[in-house]
Amino acid sequence: MITQSVFGSMPDGTAVEQFCLTNNNGVSVEILNLGGIIRRWLIPNDKKQDIDIVLGFDSVADYLIDDSYLGALVGRYANRIDRGKFTLDGIDFRTDTNQNDNCLHGGSQGFNNKIWQSSILSNDVNPAILLQLQSPDGDQGFPGKIWCKVIYTLTEQNRLKIEYFASCDQTTIYNPTNHSYFNLSGHNDGPASSHSIQVLASHFTPTDERAIPTGEIKEVDNSPFDLRPLTPIKQVLGAEHQQLKFANGLDHNFCLDAYQPDSKLASYAAKMVSENKNLVLKVYTNMPGLQIFTANHFDNKTGKNDACYQAHQGVCFETQLYPDSPNHSNFPSATLRPNQEFYGLTEYEVLF
Ligand code: GAL
Repeated sequence: MITQSVFGSMPDGTAVEQFCLTNNNGVSVEILNLGGIIRRWLIPNDKKQDIDIVLGFDSVADYLIDDSYLGALVGRYANRIDRGKFTLDGIDFRTDTNQNDNCLHGGSQGFNNKIWQSSILSNDVNPAILLQLQSPDGDQGFPGKIWCKVIYTLTEQNRLKIEYFASCDQTTIYNPTNHSYFNLSGHNDGPASSHSIQVLASHFTPTDERAIPTGEIKEVDNSPFDLRPLTPIKQVLGAEHQQLKFANGLDHNFCLDAYQPDSKLASYAAKMVSENKNLVLKVYTNMPGLQIFTANHFDNKTGKNDACYQAHQGVCFETQLYPDSPNHSNFPSATLRPNQEFYGLTEYEVLF
């Protein structure tokens, strides 16, 4: 079932719509047509009190001012491009730079700030909505016009399925993700560092101090980045490692072992387990990379219902191509050509 309501309005008066997708197990997910933001994700529990497992805000203004991308669809290029520069087919491009001289999450006016055209695809079992956005040639400095579609489906297996489609009229680059911060004890229940995580990746992409990949695809063996066994997040954050110092915590791209180029199937990539083990989040994707970000810079951020979000309050599982891949020929390519259709699939499953 889907209920639709008005969440608020943009500075120019455009209404921001909210869609609440509910399945027959009592799980519900609220999604905005502003940035495709997942604003609330309620899981029923035996105390008859739903747990809201994602961080979010209560007003449009809060979403527009904040730069942490809470719950949003990110594009055209999730993560960083070094100094916003890249070369495609011999032509140099320069994008908007919005963080330390780099392009982060598509530039200052990325897809997260846009109103997407929205419609209900299925209002029955497996409720689904379609979001569409056209980004013109030159938008934030990226070449070519691109037509983007995202379908969100809440299944009866308690999976939120996110399908990304895109096509373009000129060769360009595309790398979308969703930037939800999860806390399985509840968005307002203190740091998620009490949870444990597993990431099935035997390699990761180390960065320099500006968070730009060095280009190395490094084995995780004998390092805090070996998350193949289920590991308490606290243990990782407390480890001595130059990479963790650079980012002030985890903010790294893992190279997923299950990745198969051109696959349209989502393989198991990662999970997070709450401290009392009541809730488990499992992540499946067809993408090659997964950025794990532990909200390292949060400092008294006021969220939903006046919750106070602190460092490590939530954990992002950003399925993606590797960061800065247009500048690293050894990384899977982010190039999208006019004769191609991009298809990305990520599923977040909650076991409760
Ligand atoms: C993450 C990124 C972080 C930070 C965050 C937004 O995806 O890796 O470094 O910029 O987005 O606050």
